Amino acid sequence: HTPELTPTDEAPECAIAVDVLRATSTMATVLAAGGEAVQVFSDLDQLLDVSETWPPEKRLRAGERGGSKVAGFELGNSPLDCTEELVKGRRLFISTTNGTRALTRIQKAPIVIAAALINRAAVVNFILEKQPETVWIVGSGWEGSFSLEDTVCAGAIAHSLWQQTHIPLEELAGNDEVAGAIALYSQWQENLLGLFHQASHGQRLLRLECHEDLKYCSQTDILDVLPMQYEPGVLKSHKR
Ligand code: MLT
Repeated sequence: HTPELTPTDEAPECAIAVDVLRATSTMATVLAAGGEAVQVFSDLDQLLDVSETWPPEKRLRAGERGGSKVAGFELGNSPLDCTEELVKGRRLFISTTNGTRALTRIQKAPIVIAAALINRAAVVNFILEKQPETVWIVGSGWEGSFSLEDTVCAGAIAHSLWQQTHIPLEELAGNDEVAGAIALYSQWQENLLGLFHQASHGQRLLRLECHEDLKYCSQTDILDVLPMQYEPGVLKSHKR
C-alpha cells in the first residue's frame, strides 16, 4: 500500500519517521542499548539476502507482519526483547508491516530520523539545534491509514517545538495536520497508555498479549538517543 497521507512534494531537509507501536520505539531501544546500527527493509527476502553477508555473531534479524513475529527470524518487533545483552555491538536487520516501509519511502531526505515517544526530547533538541528549513513528521499508520499513536507522537514533538520556540499559535493556522496532532497530544498527554488502548493497532497488540509493549512505548522522553540515517536504510545513534 502507498499511504495517501505521505506528503508527495519535494523531499524536506529533515524527515522524521514515527511508528510508536512499535518499529521506531524498537529502533531507539536497540541503539540506546549499544546496537551497532539498525538496517531497515520493506521486503523480508531482501533482508535475508543482505544479512547473509554479515557475520552471524554481529547480526540480529527481526521480522514482523500483522504484529506477529515472522517464522525463522530471531526477533519480532518487541522493544522489550532488545536487551543490552542481546543487541550490544550487533546490527539489527529489521522489516515490519509499516514502520520500516515509511523509513524506506523517506530515505532520500538529507536528514532522516526515527522518532517515538520514548526519545521525543532527543529529536526535539536536535531540531532546535539544527534548525532545518523544512521538517516532515511522517506517521507510519497502518497499511496506508491514519493512526492515533503516530499522530499523538507527532503532536508531542510539535507541541514541544512550539513551546520551546514560542511560535504564536496563529502561525500554525492552515496546517491542519499539525494543529490536530497538537490538540490530540494536549488532550491525552497525561494518559497516553489510555489512548493506545483505544487505538486500533493498540487493540491488535493487546489481542497478541503485548500489554507490556504498550506500556513501554507510551513513556515519554526516557531514552536520550537519536537514530539517524547514515546511508540509505541504515540508522545509527547520532552523537552530538
Ligand atoms: C509496523 O511496522 O507496522 C509496526 O511496528 C507493527 C508492530 O507493532 O510490530
